[in-house]
Amino acid sequence: MRAIVVNRPGGATALRLTETDTPGPGPDQVLVKVTAAGVNFIDTYRRSGVYRTPFPHIPGSEGAGEIEALGPEVSGFAVGDRVAWASSATGSYAEYAVVDAAQLLPAPLNLTLDLAAAIPLQGLTADYLTRSAYRLGPADSALIYAAAGGVGQLVTQLALAAGAQVIATVGSGAKIATVAELGVPDDGIVNLGALADLTTGLPPRVRALTAGEGAHVAYDGIGRDTFAATLASLRRRGTAVLYGGASGQVEPFDPQELNAHGSLYLTRPKLDDYTATPAQLRERAERVFAAVANGALKVAIGGRFPLADATFAHQALESRASQGKLVLYL
Ligand SMILES: NC(=O)c1ccc[n+]([C@@H]2O[C@H](COP(=O)([O-])OP(=O)(O)OC[C@H]3O[C@@H](n4cnc5c(N)ncnc54)[C@H](OP(=O)(O)O)[C@@H]3O)[C@@H](O)[C@H]2O)c1
Repeated sequence: MRAIVVNRPGGATALRLTETDTPGPGPDQVLVKVTAAGVNFIDTYRRSGVYRTPFPHIPGSEGAGEIEALGPEVSGFAVGDRVAWASSATGSYAEYAVVDAAQLLPAPLNLTLDLAAAIPLQGLTADYLTRSAYRLGPADSALIYAAAGGVGQLVTQLALAAGAQVIATVGSGAKIATVAELGVPDDGIVNLGALADLTTGLPPRVRALTAGEGAHVAYDGIGRDTFAATLASLRRRGTAVLYGGASGQVEPFDPQELNAHGSLYLTRPKLDDYTATPAQLRERAERVFAAVANGALKVAIGGRFPLADATFAHQALESRASQGKLVLYL
């Protein structure tokens, strides 16, 4: 089969289209003929070696397709079923992928497999960020970084739907219209590219929009470049949800900083811990797929790339050029 393989840690050009053996499913796994694979920031962390992953590996933890073969212990699924997944394993950037049956989600018939591949990882993440890591409500103000990005557009829509005040950041003026279309008022959109200094420039903007108090919660997937501004933008006893490191991982820091900024809470969550049981996974997936199917949640596919062009997809994501979700098609 054709697959993207990463032989050793490296940049986006380490993604190589390769002819490789088609894998076989284990007893409680299925083999899926992949229609589309979602591209996620975690794929770049693994490719570059920031997250430990054995090499060589086939990247990709998300996709959609049709079941080709079942392991002997799999029940509840049949050959030909349309499925999607957000897996803790890799292997989705390929014509065929092995997926644990426990991580399979039925792909609703009214969604194309292209769209179904774009939903699980970022959609379920946005769901747990806004409902569970911090439960947003109408009394909350939320600072949301990279609001035109994949996770960011979904978090922004769910925050607005929860009635929260949204203060959304974008890295450049080209992304402002995208966030405005989601319903964020113009004065709630902060272009980080226009600030002389992010760490000192952003917190006063957030305070000005929150009657001097600061935000109740900050959703920070940028990490190293934004973390100081995140702490300084929160109100007393506010919550920093540090869910990624698109600019690099946050350096070790002194917990006294949480004290100094007003008894802050800090969480560094990951999706696996919020979909740890089959019931949690199903409940989140059903809610998110239903919201996309009925139009309440828009998943904007910002780029479709043939499998062979996976390098360009990673370059788009890492250069801050992309908006919305990127997918590879087979
Ligand atoms: N913990 C979890 O469960 C979980 C699950 C899924 C994703 N994530 C995290 O969520 C974050 C967003 O992921 P995504 O796939 O949706 O990506 P994305 O937001 O579409 O792309 C990353 C965005 O981060 C911003 N950014 C700021 N500084 C950057 C830098 N130096 N390099 C690259 N990007 C930079 C850019 O937006 P601007 O230019 O607008 O600033 C860029 O578009 C990532 O940190 C990812 O690891 C976490």
